[in-house]
Amino acid sequence: MASDTISFARGAPSLDIVDVDGLRDAATRAFTNDPAGATAYGTSIGYVPLRRWIAEQHGVDDAQVLVTNGSMQADAFLFATVVTAGDVVAVEKPTYDRTLLNLRSLGADVRPISLQTDGIDDHELALLADTGTLKLAHVIPNFQNPAGYTLSQDKRVSLLSIAGNNDFLIFEDDPYRHIRFSGDDIPTMLEQDTAGSVVYASSFSKTVCPGIRVGYLVGPSDLIARIAKLATNTYISPNMVAQAIVYEFCVSGAIDGAIATVKAALAERVATLDAALQEHLPEARYQLPEGGYFMWVELPEGTDVSALFAAADERGVQFVKGSDFLLEGGENTLRLAYSGVTNDRIDEGIRRLADAYRSLAPAAAPA
Ligand SMILES: Cc1ncc(COP(=O)(O)O)c(C=O)c1O
Repeated sequence: MASDTISFARGAPSLDIVDVDGLRDAATRAFTNDPAGATAYGTSIGYVPLRRWIAEQHGVDDAQVLVTNGSMQADAFLFATVVTAGDVVAVEKPTYDRTLLNLRSLGADVRPISLQTDGIDDHELALLADTGTLKLAHVIPNFQNPAGYTLSQDKRVSLLSIAGNNDFLIFEDDPYRHIRFSGDDIPTMLEQDTAGSVVYASSFSKTVCPGIRVGYLVGPSDLIARIAKLATNTYISPNMVAQAIVYEFCVSGAIDGAIATVKAALAERVATLDAALQEHLPEARYQLPEGGYFMWVELPEGTDVSALFAAADERGVQFVKGSDFLLEGGENTLRLAYSGVTNDRIDEGIRRLADAYRSLAPAAAPA
């Protein structure tokens, strides 16, 4: 592997788009304004002022919010609370690899539902729901991980109706909503839900920074109370220092500047990525994302993505194989995360990827 590896693998921001100074200032304010709260164990529902701020943003009661160590922890708590071995859980095909791992380790009966460029196939989901066995549907509505696609408003309405009629829970896993750099924001399913069918998760990883490990769940208060008990038994309480810092970062308005920085940088990177793919790898098929961190790339049928991965690694460029986000298939697909690659490195990264593609034997890279 080359020493100057360009990694399109991690769904994390490059350092230049993290507001380190703003975080340092927020940390100073957290220890100055609330030293007792920031340094105490606190409670399992999270740092109370941040919980209230999140509840206000979503227009819900405080009792409907649980703040966790990253939204991955929120996902894990929710799954551990509502999913038991053998339960039927719908996921998008492809979906976030850690969701698949988590659900499989619980013994869930995972049913992948086709993902289209406007989101999960609602007809296929309705067919599964008709069997009466569906417990939970995991949906990443905005700038999906790994595909970068966004669930249309029509499909949001359709999903809510299918869930209401068939008594299953929609898990709206939404860490990327605020990273929209083109098109119009679409209301969350949580906002449109009148039947209590939605549990929502989001995160400050993609807007503030992932190392802060602050995420949260919003849901019916009785479910949140059950999850809070599990949280207490798991870790007593989440990281109060981190949550107090995030709180100060949010109430000062620094978060708006941070989001604007991330959006501007990522919009530029997507444009550069598009131009680089057109120039160096015209075989690639993709839809330009309107936000988020990821682009899903399809190469000609028959491409061996494992061979491409190895050849790319030798040339100092990394990505995640599409097959990692699927229970089966996806051998001609890959995910490019442009969040972690500065704009000046993208063209070179794609040039290396194209070089790797062309180095493959004809059987592994059909023309
Ligand atoms: C869809 C989705 N959910 C959850 C997470 C976990 O995020 P975190 O634990 O950093 O909040 C990620 C991270 O990439 C994600 O893409």
